[in-house]
Amino acid sequence: TEPLSAPPRTGSICWQRLLFTASLFTFWSSPTSAQATIDLVPPLVAEGKNVLLLVHNLPENLNIIYWYKGITTTDDYEIARYLLSTNESVEGLAHSRRETIFRNGSLLIENVKQNDTGVYTLQSLDSRGNKKDTSVQLYVHQPVSQPSIRVTNDTVKEKDSVVFTCVSGDSEISIQWIFNNQNLKLTDRMMLSENNSRLSIDPVEGEDAGEYQCEVSNLVSSKKSSSISLIVNTDPGQGSSGLSGGAIAGIVVGAGAGVALIAGLGYFLYSRKTGRGSDQHNLTEHTPSASNHSPGPSDNSPKKVDEVPYSVLDFNAQKPKQPAPASSASETVYSQVKKN
Ligand SMILES: *[C@@H]1O[C@H](CO)[C@@H](O)[C@H](O)[C@H]1NC(C)=O
Ligand SMILES: *[C@@H]1O[C@H](CO)[C@@H](O)[C@H](O)[C@H]1NC(C)=O
Ligand SMILES: *[C@@H]1O[C@H](CO)[C@@H](O)[C@H](O)[C@H]1NC(C)=O
Ligand SMILES: *[C@@H]1O[C@H](CO)[C@@H](O)[C@H](O)[C@H]1NC(C)=O
Ligand SMILES: *[C@@H]1O[C@H](CO)[C@@H](O)[C@H](O)[C@H]1NC(C)=O
Repeated sequence: TEPLSAPPRTGSICWQRLLFTASLFTFWSSPTSAQATIDLVPPLVAEGKNVLLLVHNLPENLNIIYWYKGITTTDDYEIARYLLSTNESVEGLAHSRRETIFRNGSLLIENVKQNDTGVYTLQSLDSRGNKKDTSVQLYVHQPVSQPSIRVTNDTVKEKDSVVFTCVSGDSEISIQWIFNNQNLKLTDRMMLSENNSRLSIDPVEGEDAGEYQCEVSNLVSSKKSSSISLIVNTDPGQGSSGLSGGAIAGIVVGAGAGVALIAGLGYFLYSRKTGRGSDQHNLTEHTPSASNHSPGPSDNSPKKVDEVPYSVLDFNAQKPKQPAPASSASETVYSQVKKN
């Protein structure tokens, strides 16, 4: 029972899931042909919640049903027993005032604690004195704590870049991003780090302004961070006011108006380049490679050339018969060609 009761702290979520799934299987500690099975309801329980150890197929003609903490069926480990002849439940030495035993054998544990994790054994005693044991593993999961969110700068200009970070003290979690109280829809200007803990936007655009939150979840719970409001200062003249800062510097340095404009433009481009951190450089390197994945214009054009004559040809062939089905037929062919 040791591998089962040991909390799976290491490994990926996949491996953890596998262990949890394994822990849900009822196993037999009695070699006799016991019939009862036990389900956990709910299958995954968070600390502070209730869980029912639901018993199915209890043997017939029972006198007493016992529940034990662990696999040792002695008085020290008895949680409670149910006397079917009198409909009486009696607390045992291992009772913690949070367990209730029912006539049908099920055991309710309320407000579960971390140390309720472990094996529970049901023992049935029938009128002929036969005892049958069935055990089940309970694992109490820790709910996640609230994550916090950080941003490189909450006030940015258009074309700047920004990086949000979700900070959580929990492990084995997944992270989602929320924008204006909805799941963030990723654009091609956004990039997530491998475990979703960092959201980068480069370049920022006006539509990115709004409220950002992150949400962390594990198998039993999820919590949202507070929100950060991103302000994006847009240039009303589409770049002309962006130039003005550089242009002013150019006027100071240069002599003529033309020189000033060129110097200003140069300064603007230079400050854009140097203003980016190393992470943002990674992003700009990634973005083109990602867009290379999708068919480029040269990839697309031969397909388009194929599609057009085919659908036109087909449409012409069908047209003389029946106009309505003809158009749907040509649509079908069209979509097949598109798939190819
Ligand atoms: C015990 O409960 C069952 C079901 O609720 C009932 O049929 C039976 O009569 C009860 N027995 C006694 C002794 O109260
Ligand atoms: C046993 O009784 C409990 C409490 O009344 C109930 O929640 C549970 O569903 C019952 N189990 C079965 C298998 O009927
Ligand atoms: C389990 O932990 C609770 C606190 O969460 C404590 O009150 C209780 O005594 C512990 N029980 C055992 C058996 O260690
Ligand atoms: C945030 O960005 C603005 C505009 O780009 C800049 O003026 C400001 O100094 C930045 N703040 C910090 C803390 O970096
Ligand atoms: C995400 O990955 C980063 C770097 O690999 C790591 O520092 C961070 O702790 C991870 N966060 C989570 C929630 O796993």
